[in-house]
Amino acid sequence: MSAATIQERLQGELERHLVPRDFVWGVSTSSYQIEGAAAVDGRGPSVWDGYSRVPGHVANGHTGDVACDHYHRYAEDTALMRGLGVNAYRFSVAWPRVLPAGRGAANEAGLAFYDRVIDGVLAAGIEPWLCLYHWDLPQALQDQGGWLNRDIAGWFADYATLVARRFGDRVKRFATFNEPGVFTLFGYGLAWHPPGLTDPAALHQAIHHVNLAHGAAVDALRAHVASASIGATHSVQPARPVDHTAADEAAATLLDEYWNKAFAEAQILGHYPPALARAVEPYVQAGDMERICRPTDWFGVNHYSPVFARADAAAPLGFAWADAPDNVPKTQVGWQVDPAAFRDTLVDLDRRYRLPIYVLENGAGGHEKLDASGNLIDLERIGYLAVYIGAMYDAIAAGADVRGYFVWSLLDNFEWGAGYDCRFGLVYVDPVTQRRIPKASAHWYANLIRGMVGEAPPQEP
Ligand code: FCB
Repeated sequence: MSAATIQERLQGELERHLVPRDFVWGVSTSSYQIEGAAAVDGRGPSVWDGYSRVPGHVANGHTGDVACDHYHRYAEDTALMRGLGVNAYRFSVAWPRVLPAGRGAANEAGLAFYDRVIDGVLAAGIEPWLCLYHWDLPQALQDQGGWLNRDIAGWFADYATLVARRFGDRVKRFATFNEPGVFTLFGYGLAWHPPGLTDPAALHQAIHHVNLAHGAAVDALRAHVASASIGATHSVQPARPVDHTAADEAAATLLDEYWNKAFAEAQILGHYPPALARAVEPYVQAGDMERICRPTDWFGVNHYSPVFARADAAAPLGFAWADAPDNVPKTQVGWQVDPAAFRDTLVDLDRRYRLPIYVLENGAGGHEKLDASGNLIDLERIGYLAVYIGAMYDAIAAGADVRGYFVWSLLDNFEWGAGYDCRFGLVYVDPVTQRRIPKASAHWYANLIRGMVGEAPPQEP
């Protein structure tokens, strides 16, 4: 299908009012990935500051010290969002920027930064969606055990209270966590994120404590924000076996529990999936599941691509992460393109959890360079977004209650272990000059949101 045909089809869907007029169209970012200003105005260190400095942890030795310098360029970035015509912006607050030691004294300069961001987006007619935790744990708390210390649920609730009291007059949409299944598995099981462990017991303990922190934060947000609309953001991708052997199928079932269910099921259904229920049992105290399973208002889903597992008896978790098979379509960064998996995921989430769904991240990564005329015509990203948005429409047509869609990401940014050379932005960012250049996909997305076909999009190569 050409990009033009896809655009026409999407436009047709819009005109048939498949997507309601109040559908939320947004973009997402996160604090450590864009803010920079790591040691400015009293921000305390986060676990990512230290982790990224260790040789071998991040491609090319990149760190988030400067990132997109959003701390100083937020007004320009808000203008870019206004240009896109989005009506929502999901961002995260850096816990160590507002509480440099993780608890105790708040940092007024850090809070004032988020005042400026929030006031700016509201003035641009964009609703702020605030995420409390997108992986930048204060190092001071890590030094006290971090997610392995049960007290962290209370520390997180205190942080949520600070954020709620300060911003709750203007912000109503709150997510407690971004992708708890990812930062716990990568940080404690596979050693790809801080604190860099491969320790199943630590992983299970961290999972339970993150869940307790979620429940405590939901209560804090409810107590301090009138008409709050609260959820959490989960990475949900089909977990597939590399080979159709019984051992690989079992590995995929286990990966599915860690990645897709450890948090969503505990938080929304009040129980852990079967294998994990046994594993977390030593850490569960009386009343914990009630503390975790608090009523929320929506389900946030981040979706990109199926994930793969294979059995590995020597691996601490009994399974190994695997790449997508060779013979499937992939983005430039090797993630399988499978829009039907997105449709099926949305339909399944709708039936499983019975909450309104917001897609809070979806997008394509590339190793991209500007062309000779200084533009970036990212046809592959346009194609990816088009077929994924089409798949979302299919899910809505099949009855899934999907109410919003956010592209990851507004800007090319610090892509964790892959550093800055793995670009997900609608807007190109030059890491040296910090110049922002909207890519062709930014114009495409703006056209889609405006509900106008606009000029004919470029043909696929
Ligand atoms: C998600 C993360 C986000 C970004 C995208 C590509 O897992 O939430 O920060 O890295 O992947």
